[in-house]
Amino acid sequence: MSKNTDELFKNVIAHAKEYGFVFPSSEIYDGLSAVYDYGQFGAELKNNIKTYWWKSMVQMHDNIVGIDSAIFMHPKIWKASGHVDGFSDPMIDNKDSNKRYRADQLLEDRIAKLDEEGKTSEAEELQVEMDNALKAENLPRLRELIIEQNIKCPISGTTNWTEVRQFNLMFSTRVGAIADESDTIYLRPETAQGIFVNYLNVQKSGRMKIPFGIAQIGKAFRNEVIARQFIIRMREFEQMEMQYFVRPGTQAQWFDKWKETRLKWHPALGTDAAKYRYHEHTKLAHYADAAYDIEFEFPFGFKEVEGIHSRTDFDLSQHQQFSGKKMQYFDPEIDPATEKPYGNYIPYVIETSIGLDRMFLLTMINAYREEDLSTDEKQDSRTVLRLHPCLAPVKAAVFPLIKKDGLPEKAREIMDSLKLDFNLQYEEKDAIGKRYRRQDAIGTPFCITVDHQTLEDNTVTIRHRDSMKQERVAADQLDKIIGDLVSWKNLLK
Ligand code: GAP
Repeated sequence: MSKNTDELFKNVIAHAKEYGFVFPSSEIYDGLSAVYDYGQFGAELKNNIKTYWWKSMVQMHDNIVGIDSAIFMHPKIWKASGHVDGFSDPMIDNKDSNKRYRADQLLEDRIAKLDEEGKTSEAEELQVEMDNALKAENLPRLRELIIEQNIKCPISGTTNWTEVRQFNLMFSTRVGAIADESDTIYLRPETAQGIFVNYLNVQKSGRMKIPFGIAQIGKAFRNEVIARQFIIRMREFEQMEMQYFVRPGTQAQWFDKWKETRLKWHPALGTDAAKYRYHEHTKLAHYADAAYDIEFEFPFGFKEVEGIHSRTDFDLSQHQQFSGKKMQYFDPEIDPATEKPYGNYIPYVIETSIGLDRMFLLTMINAYREEDLSTDEKQDSRTVLRLHPCLAPVKAAVFPLIKKDGLPEKAREIMDSLKLDFNLQYEEKDAIGKRYRRQDAIGTPFCITVDHQTLEDNTVTIRHRDSMKQERVAADQLDKIIGDLVSWKNLLK
């Protein structure tokens, strides 16, 4: 990370805290690693991102519906899904510092360093060696590579490493009062399984016909070995997932469709399309026959934001086997090849899975600007979040010019007329310029000032966040002006 991008990232994190977007969790107890809380504006922004995803994925498709399944599920689900046996990361401990690392991340850092030093062929060679070892689950080879590369623990500075071991990422806890083995349950590491186990409930109750999708937004939990880069890798995070159930044999075509559709969704928010790229998985998860990530160029490099996975019939077949319940769908449509109904089969599944917290960070970074507003006469600057108006936590702020002469009462009256439709803020403290700066910092698209003229002709000044231009408008036009800009139609059309 160059000094500038490093500084930009640090500034965004500091801004997120100072203005009530993201706080370290349990801060007064010195925090809890890889866990964060969303503050008053963060919660609004997060909700707006969820709304955008939900509207575009669920409400804009007549064959996709949304559910909200429980975090706790029968423990056999995680056996069937392969998570109990296979959802792990290779880790290694340094015996001197007692610090634990992900073996693949130590090697990835080394590859990045070799690249930075211009040793491209060495970097490529190491990448291939590491990929091969990961694919073959050859843990001793991963350790050998760490030793060969003379990778030292950043804390102790030594190469005194343990063996590499697999570390399961699921959190477990106990349900009920009696503590025996059978009471162990897991906090879900992905929301997808709640969709798989409900797919026939939804299909039957909603009379859904293939192809159809089921979407869900919810918390997922992973005991990540290494917490890094703020809210990029957390132990408690949120996913927005959609499983699309298709006829076997059509999965490649639906995979391509969803891969394209999802990439187009992102720049609609105003993000530069050049900052996105696909990354094809070489090492596929146990359930997939094809997988692409959508990556975004964060200040610290390209990182996965969303995964598009072709999950075959793996999950449904596994649940059929483990639960003993039929997971088949009856397809009454006529197969032109046989001129008979397609009949019973287990559908194939295409999954789109986006991390809400990564999307949140991407949105903050994309919106954050430090602008120099200096003129010949005076030095000036502002920090502004140029958020898409639909995502802005507060849509408009209402200010009385001064705290007397009936202006606060008039401002409150205007607020009352708008607050049924929009999330608003009322501010009367400090000079107007300072109030503008506070609203710029949280991304509020409009500031409305009530002055003495308002009492005479019911007009107000409206100031636009991005252009900083001000205009005088009739107060009864405000709902239309604000509504036109923040309407979800602008994004969804
Ligand atoms: N159901 C498929 C699945 O869970 P994944 O690639 O492991 O796939 C999907 O996760 C998305 O969830 C990722 O693209 C990422 O945005 C987000 N994600 C995964 N682990 C995360 C973590 N520890 N912290 C924050 N977001 C995470």
